[in-house]
Amino acid sequence: MTKRVGILTAGGDSPGLNAAIRGVGKAAEGAYGMSVIGFRDGFRGLVENRAVDLGGNVLSGILTVGGTILGTSRDKPHKMKIGGVSQDMTDAIVENYQANHLDTLVCLGGGGTQKNALQLMNKGLNIITLPKTIDNDVALTDTTFGFDTALGIATEAIDRLHSTAHSHHRIIVVEIMGHRAGWLALGAGVAGGADVILLPEIPYSLQTVADAITDRVKRGKNFSIVAVSEGAMDTSQAANIRELEKRLAQAEAAGDKKARKNIKAELRAIEAGRADHTLELAHKLEQLTGLESRPTILGHVQRGGIPSAVDRLLATRLGTACAALINDGVSGVMVAARGDEAEPVPLEQVAGNKKTVPTDHPWITAAKRVGVCLGD
Ligand code: F6P
Repeated sequence: MTKRVGILTAGGDSPGLNAAIRGVGKAAEGAYGMSVIGFRDGFRGLVENRAVDLGGNVLSGILTVGGTILGTSRDKPHKMKIGGVSQDMTDAIVENYQANHLDTLVCLGGGGTQKNALQLMNKGLNIITLPKTIDNDVALTDTTFGFDTALGIATEAIDRLHSTAHSHHRIIVVEIMGHRAGWLALGAGVAGGADVILLPEIPYSLQTVADAITDRVKRGKNFSIVAVSEGAMDTSQAANIRELEKRLAQAEAAGDKKARKNIKAELRAIEAGRADHTLELAHKLEQLTGLESRPTILGHVQRGGIPSAVDRLLATRLGTACAALINDGVSGVMVAARGDEAEPVPLEQVAGNKKTVPTDHPWITAAKRVGVCLGD
């Protein structure tokens, strides 16, 4: 019997998604004789049964294209807004999986997708995931596709900011994506020669950052580049959040729903209040150092455009390995990058775990050795 494979892309888009769809689809069809369909716009397309045939020539010419030909969304199977009301749609997903006679559903996504995929696996579906995100924060894989491309874009941005910061003798504070992990800011900061790099993993002191910049001025360097990860925060805010998270864990353990709701609302309010943190940081550094300062938010430009060669290669490696695993009857795993190999790791071990930057990571050591201020 011909095996039937479904593919969807979920969460934020990322360069390399099309290369991965192509890798899974071409190998599944060409090397293993399977038939392949895709679902539009993440889990929502599966709920609404918006399927497209990915056979024949559909996957030709997409290797170098950014974004995802399938479309994506941040919808969660168990909490999907239908007519404005949040509903558990996992049963509809199971029905459509069966109606399409799928043997396996391949979900391409980041941390949230791994959790959603695990839930569907627990509903009895055969699921395989691939690790995609520019944030590089998926557990148990060396890296994720999208990261290398975004790293190149953010590094080039820092290169460009250098000449204007230098010409105007300014501080430029550049905000780099990464959600709650600092991989992108750290990588681009080191590669682009930022003078200060602020990460979620290392709470910073504003005064330490200002002192480092003033110190540079004393050494005749009257401009500075500050690479700040979108999740970075100062020591007092980090302590506040740590405390709330501790209380949240206690409320969850005690089954105290009211306390849980209130603490979550407090955490959301802090998050909302951080929307302008890069602008505020630039402003405060100007006040403390006397140097003119400008904020730059790179934003979604980091996720756009053609994937790098490294991401195309990684996505093709993992995508084709995924097809081989389906052929072998494997499911319930994420196809992880381990050195040059692609290895299946159990979804239970991936979902809910985040890979943040260890404070003794070699990139941090290297940054310190070239005199970068990390704000601590
Ligand atoms: O996870 C990728 C990412 O680009 C993060 O770096 C960022 O925090 C988030 O997505 C932005 O999400 P959205 O696409 O919803 O604006």
